[in-house]
Amino acid sequence: MGYKVAVVGATGNVGREMLDILAERAFPADEVVALASSRSLGQEVSFGDKILKVKALDTYDFSDTDICLMSAGGDASKEWSPRIGQQGCVVIDNSSAFRYDADVPLIVPEVNADAVVGFTKRNIIANPNCSTAQLVVALKPLHEAATIKRVVVSTYQSVSGAGKDAMDELFSQTRAVFTAGEVVQKKFTKRIAFNVIPHIDVFMEDGYTKEEWKMVAETKKMLDPKIKLTATAVRVPVFIGHAESVNIEFERPLSPEQATEILRSAPGVLVIDKRENGGYMTPHEAAGEDATYISRIREDATVENGLNFWCVSDNLRKGAALNAVQIAEVLVNRKLLNKARQAA
Ligand SMILES: NC(=O)c1ccc[n+]([C@@H]2O[C@H](COP(=O)([O-])OP(=O)(O)OC[C@H]3O[C@@H](n4cnc5c(N)ncnc54)[C@H](OP(=O)(O)O)[C@@H]3O)[C@@H](O)[C@H]2O)c1
Repeated sequence: MGYKVAVVGATGNVGREMLDILAERAFPADEVVALASSRSLGQEVSFGDKILKVKALDTYDFSDTDICLMSAGGDASKEWSPRIGQQGCVVIDNSSAFRYDADVPLIVPEVNADAVVGFTKRNIIANPNCSTAQLVVALKPLHEAATIKRVVVSTYQSVSGAGKDAMDELFSQTRAVFTAGEVVQKKFTKRIAFNVIPHIDVFMEDGYTKEEWKMVAETKKMLDPKIKLTATAVRVPVFIGHAESVNIEFERPLSPEQATEILRSAPGVLVIDKRENGGYMTPHEAAGEDATYISRIREDATVENGLNFWCVSDNLRKGAALNAVQIAEVLVNRKLLNKARQAA
């Protein structure tokens, strides 16, 4: 038997990618429904070789839908996810609205798939922030091998992480710079074309941004609350693909050769690490790919048991849509969906 799947936010960056990934991976769906705001009613989106007409979320009945892949932002999720869950449909949410709720599992299947069973309390499962998803895929096997004490991470995050309007802003600002036109700033607080901005999401009282805080809280929730992590999140003028510079201190020794071997056999990870010109991954090459790529693995000799590496992934895929579809696959493979109806 196939499932009925709704994609909310189907006209957005992540929603379109979700439709592509459901089709690519031949997800066992009898029916896929595309939903967005009433502004997009009747708009067409592609799903494999089919065209779907977008329906409005606020008039849609979820009572016979099994899975809702939600990617319509935090406000829409806060309003709709609990109501959808109460109808017996499992919501896999991409926003930050429920990530820190103790009754909502936060899942990266390569890291903590077993925790998915906790979804029955609210029928909601959270997807992590895009920069955390790729990070924990790399940290997990290394943590198992040598126990991570502390992580220092600096991110280089593409504009697609801020939605389709942000991609348009990079494009139009770049064109304006070349044609001596007016550089209009709406989505970002400073010009993003030919620039980098050390500010993603809102500022918090301690001087960190919410994006940086999310990386700390989500790594602790999914991997180990004892891991100390500090982050600097930076937006860069790249359309798709987030990169991260990662520095780790372990409890036990782990050589770069051992780390490379462990990462080479880790699920979801591909190591591209030749110590020569071009022997590493960049966001441009990772766009459209599923893996989390690790390059530049080397010892940090300034601390005991220190390691550095470079980590790149497609933020719309592993950072959002792919991870959500992988969670749906866990629900299907472990035959957990009937539990959602019982829980409702
Ligand atoms: N981009 C990433 O790398 C990434 C990674 C992880 C998580 N996320 C999260 O995923 C969500 C979507 O991100 P995105 O990049 O796809 O944004 P986006 O490109 O701006 O798309 C937003 C989508 O949400 C829909 N939407 C907005 N308000 C709605 C409402 N009230 N009711 C129904 N639909 C509504 C929009 O529909 P209309 O076209 O009709 O307005 C559109 O389809 C956000 O929560 C974001 O934080 C994104």
